[in-house]
Amino acid sequence: MDANGDGIGDFQGLMRRLDYLHGLGITAIWLMPFQCSPGRDDGYDISDYYGVNPAYGTLGDFVEFTHGAKQRGIRVLIDLVVNHTSDEHPWFQDARRDPESKYRDWYIWSKTKPPNANKGMVFPGVQKSTWSRDAMAKEWYFHRFYDFQPDLNTSNPAVQAEILKIMGFWIQLGVSGFRMDAVPFVISTKGPNVTQPREQYDMLRSFREFLQWRVGDSIILAEANVLPNTDMQYFGDAGDRMHMMFNFQVNQNLFYALASSDTRPLAKAMQRTESRPASGQWGIFLRNHDELDLGRLTKAQRQRVFDAFGPNKEDQLYNRGIRRRIAPMLGGDRRRLELAYSLMFTLPGTPVLRYGDELGMGDDLSLPERVCCRTPMQWSTEPNGGFTKNDKPVVPVISDGPYGFQHINAAEQRRDSNSMLNWTERIIRMRKEVPEIGWGEFEVLDTGDDSVLALRYDWKNNSVLFLHNLASEPREVELSTGLKGKDNDSLINLLSNDHSRGGEKGNHRVCLEAYGYRWYRVGGLDYLLKRSEF
Ligand code: GLC
Ligand code: CA
Repeated sequence: MDANGDGIGDFQGLMRRLDYLHGLGITAIWLMPFQCSPGRDDGYDISDYYGVNPAYGTLGDFVEFTHGAKQRGIRVLIDLVVNHTSDEHPWFQDARRDPESKYRDWYIWSKTKPPNANKGMVFPGVQKSTWSRDAMAKEWYFHRFYDFQPDLNTSNPAVQAEILKIMGFWIQLGVSGFRMDAVPFVISTKGPNVTQPREQYDMLRSFREFLQWRVGDSIILAEANVLPNTDMQYFGDAGDRMHMMFNFQVNQNLFYALASSDTRPLAKAMQRTESRPASGQWGIFLRNHDELDLGRLTKAQRQRVFDAFGPNKEDQLYNRGIRRRIAPMLGGDRRRLELAYSLMFTLPGTPVLRYGDELGMGDDLSLPERVCCRTPMQWSTEPNGGFTKNDKPVVPVISDGPYGFQHINAAEQRRDSNSMLNWTERIIRMRKEVPEIGWGEFEVLDTGDDSVLALRYDWKNNSVLFLHNLASEPREVELSTGLKGKDNDSLINLLSNDHSRGGEKGNHRVCLEAYGYRWYRVGGLDYLLKRSEF
């Protein structure tokens, strides 16, 4: 959204785009923070949790928006940024002014500079420390992120109660859930004497209980870039904590696979993140609004991804990631974009698409840090890509080069049946008809070729099978579906007429073009007649 207060690109403007989003086939939309904020971290520095930034509209506009979304069957998820507030938040202002303030203990203080003040920065290279001295309070305060984002003392029961109140408020206004920002830090113990931070997982259960009790079908989608062995701590063994989590493990290994054509680490990442409660789900994504964080790969793997997709210093960020959008990373190569998106739509979980990626939008590396991949949506060839009537959008529209709005925009792609937009719309439609991916159990099949990933899902008496060739040359593979029974010798292609019949031993021989992909149903198209109830 564009916060210049002209009624376009804000909540009213966004509401007028709901039909476009509905047509694309999305079922939920995640809004980045739109609450009152000085805007020093694109709204991730909130100064009032219960208000809409006036530049985006009013609470009234917000409710009109959630109503419009509901009419179209689109769920609204909003960011829940409660690890920290803005330093301009009245709570912090009160806390720093007065040691007796009831808000003093809502933040983390230290009389002296803690010994670990230069450790644990989330934005290394930009952020110098995690503790800063406040002249008014005459004490040091803790900030995991930028110095204008003081951390809330989330162990304080009063702060926890406030977090529930914030959720309760927005739930009442029509949202269906929250993308919870920086969850590992929210639940971490914090303080000057904390040398080994500990996660207070019980807190997650209390968030969920509250939400579920208020509105049964609402969810929390956690941003937690953690190691697979702690995943179940976040989901809860009994499915009693987070409903959903972004799968950062798969994300990083997916980019490694795209860079190296070696799918083995990706398959391993899928297997290591396979366990989840029946009521929990992964969010599968390619790019988001932050840098592509490659911090969980080995040094050699990370270098491989840098070499392939972000070799220049200006492409990289925080010594761990790439700040580009996916289309320029893949050289705008349509075959590779389809391959990447086909993977995103077929890996185990719920696909999460970033705005503009359905068009293959680019980035603007002249903008600082992560702002480069947050440029306005390119709607048409009108001035400023049709995003705003204001001459000066808050973030400039990309307006030159191959990714400029003159070349990449929704209006023109709409008219072209072969466009990325129409491809995305068709693939979303097909994805919805393959619920096996979200609900089923998966198996990685042997193709005898490390660059060809074969995945089979089984659910309610049906199976589907996906092939992806990550190599830049055509590959022929021979594989077995791994299933028994007479139906299994045919693979029905869901996207084209090129079906496969098993050979003598029931094996399939498939020739995939460079970066080719296949979506098959095993057996036949009578699957809905055969679907069982369990
Ligand atoms: C999360 C957000 C990021 C933000 C940070 C601080 O990592 O994704 O955009 O800057 O939290 O709230
Ligand atoms: Ca605007």
